[in-house]
Amino acid sequence: MGWSPDQYLKFAAPRLRPALDLLARIDLEQPGLIYDLGCGAGNVTALLASRWPQARIVGVDSSSAMLDRAAKLLPQAEWVLADLAQWQPSEAADLVFSNAALHWVDDHARFLPWLVRALAPGGVLALQMPANFTAPSHRSLFAAALSGPWQDLLRPLLRENPVGSPEDNWAILAEVRPEIWETTYLHALTGEDPVLEWIMGTSLRPLLEALPEGWQGDFLAVCRNLLAKAYPRRANGVTLFPFRRQFILAKKI
Ligand SMILES: C[S@@+](CC[C@H](N)C(=O)[O-])C[C@H]1O[C@@H](n2cnc3c(N)ncnc32)[C@H](O)[C@@H]1O
Repeated sequence: MGWSPDQYLKFAAPRLRPALDLLARIDLEQPGLIYDLGCGAGNVTALLASRWPQARIVGVDSSSAMLDRAAKLLPQAEWVLADLAQWQPSEAADLVFSNAALHWVDDHARFLPWLVRALAPGGVLALQMPANFTAPSHRSLFAAALSGPWQDLLRPLLRENPVGSPEDNWAILAEVRPEIWETTYLHALTGEDPVLEWIMGTSLRPLLEALPEGWQGDFLAVCRNLLAKAYPRRANGVTLFPFRRQFILAKKI
């Protein structure tokens, strides 16, 4: 199954908003080399390219389906298929950027300082990661995973909160005195089971992938029920989905 650009991009507009907010805070005139880590389908990479058209941009992602889509959208960028936990940059960058991807990488106490080492002097680290791992959407997913015949299969795949608190991440990155903030976006979604549809593009994906086909429908039905209770559809057809995100911005002196 893997990552599906189509499923992920069903909510392209609300997913883009934090990337725009992060981009607006980056104070760089003419970066020569930019890494977009976990670049996905390249729609955010395209924003980097239009802001800094002279820059050499390298998008890194572990999904070939996502990278194929990205390469079609932005053929002038370079696309690298790699797991970020193993990837070694060949050169120091002026901007290391990542939107909504690094929560898939473990051990941030090691990984975040390593990103700083990938920066040239004067380079900027600009990250955005979901900080909603205690939200009802995740709790519902955990409850569904642990409440059926699939629980032994799914338990090892449940990821505890991979994103540290702002205080923890500040301490991890203290050498560069980062600016860290969190914002809760209140997404007003429409359509049938929109929160289920949203997480089908992200956190639900590895769990579904691990299930035999015969269990997938039943597991989805349990998720659908729990999510409908946690995020009820209003009389006007809108389902409100609050989503907290953490931003990290730092300059290497
Ligand atoms: C939620 S998408 C975000 C994509 C893009 N940054 C955006 O803002 O639209 C997360 C991306 O991270 C990638 N990813 C997840 N784990 C990864 C890893 N260990 N190494 C590289 N990429 C990874 C996925 O393939 C996916 O394309």
